[in-house]
Amino acid sequence: PRNVAKDGNGELTVAGLRVKQLAEEFGTPLYVVDEQDLRSRCREFIEGFAGWDVYYAGKAFLCVEVAKWIEQEGLGLDVCSGGELAVALKAEFPPERITFHGNNKSENELARAIDAGIGRIVVDSFDEIARIAKLATDRNTTARVLVRVTVGVEAHTHEYIATAHEDQKFGFSLAGGHAHDAVERVLKEPSLELRGLHSHIGSQIYDTSGFEVAAKRVVGLFTEIRDTHGITLPELCLGGGFGIAYTTQDDPQPPSKLAQGMNDIVEHECKAYGVEKPRMSIEPGRAIAGPAVFTLYEVGTVKPVELDAGASRNYVAVDGGMSDNVRTALYDAEFSCTLASRKSDAQPTLSRVVGKHCESGDILVKDEFLPADVTPGDLLAVPATGAYCRSLASTYNHVPKPAIVAVDNNQARVIVRRETEEDLLRLDVW
Ligand code: LLP
Repeated sequence: PRNVAKDGNGELTVAGLRVKQLAEEFGTPLYVVDEQDLRSRCREFIEGFAGWDVYYAGKAFLCVEVAKWIEQEGLGLDVCSGGELAVALKAEFPPERITFHGNNKSENELARAIDAGIGRIVVDSFDEIARIAKLATDRNTTARVLVRVTVGVEAHTHEYIATAHEDQKFGFSLAGGHAHDAVERVLKEPSLELRGLHSHIGSQIYDTSGFEVAAKRVVGLFTEIRDTHGITLPELCLGGGFGIAYTTQDDPQPPSKLAQGMNDIVEHECKAYGVEKPRMSIEPGRAIAGPAVFTLYEVGTVKPVELDAGASRNYVAVDGGMSDNVRTALYDAEFSCTLASRKSDAQPTLSRVVGKHCESGDILVKDEFLPADVTPGDLLAVPATGAYCRSLASTYNHVPKPAIVAVDNNQARVIVRRETEEDLLRLDVW
């Protein structure tokens, strides 16, 4: 987060609060969200992408309080399940500023979205087009939709989070002609209003050329639609996916830079094709929530392990693990880590931060040089854990999920309370 510093004793502070105090008061592991940091990233997207609509992708990090911040900063919200929709509605998020995503939304989820009056539904299959049309007809209403297009871009990111190549489950293929067919199908349904097209090429992407190719191809389809059907679609969403820094080697672009490249391409293509520039939008999730959070852990055990060639590595085990951050185990993700509770002049030593779960893949930080004297009771902070850590959290091994604490201006408050063993047991029936 932006508002962190180390005090004279080497202790990490955030928004003016010492981490030892946070650990004492709220326990560990703990997700600590720097409210002003998250809000400032919202504003940077709004300002950087001036004239565009910015939808926050709630899947990255969502709770009622965060939805309120997002609303107050003037963003829209992208939800992709009935559960995320429920959080948004509980936060009294204006429904017309909500977009509903997903490749297999249930009839019940769609009905709730339509009844709530949400802004747009992004359609992802022919089955779904029929389903939404029927629900809207039954309700004597019109549903506004975007058609999700698979543009055939190979985004340079982990295979599991790339979404615009052909062989995956999302969207209608542009190359295969399905996108065109989907548009036709939607236009034939009197209860559906086609607002525009949508493309999302993947996540944790640094290189903007993928967005540019996507923009080019979707604008091409806009033109085709105008030529075939004589209509100019009003909206185009280019999705999310902007990469953030997880280690000091990462060097992501600021929103204003991203905006420039994407804007130029869209304007250029629209001009070239002679189509009016549609209302543009984006859906960043990670770039807003990711850097604003760190996870605070307490060290429980330290074990030196001999490697080949006489080298060794310290296995530093903390009180959380893959249940609160599965990204390293799932995507081979890179995180960094710092000793947060004190200063140490001990030799920086190759270390691996691991969790408390029953598998060897339970790794949080693969390689980090931590002081050789790291010891039980020390606090470690893992930065950039705002996106897809809490939201992908599990209760594996019946480990309750950590709390989320928001810090701002010397104040800390719980915005999601820590799960208890009682919470876990509440669902058992016997
Ligand atoms: N829009 C759509 C349609 C999406 O599917 C996603 C992310 C986003 C926007 C937001 O993408 P972002 O700006 O956050 O990259 N769990 C993975 C990431 C999965 C992304 C899913 N979709 C991870 O931890 O890396």
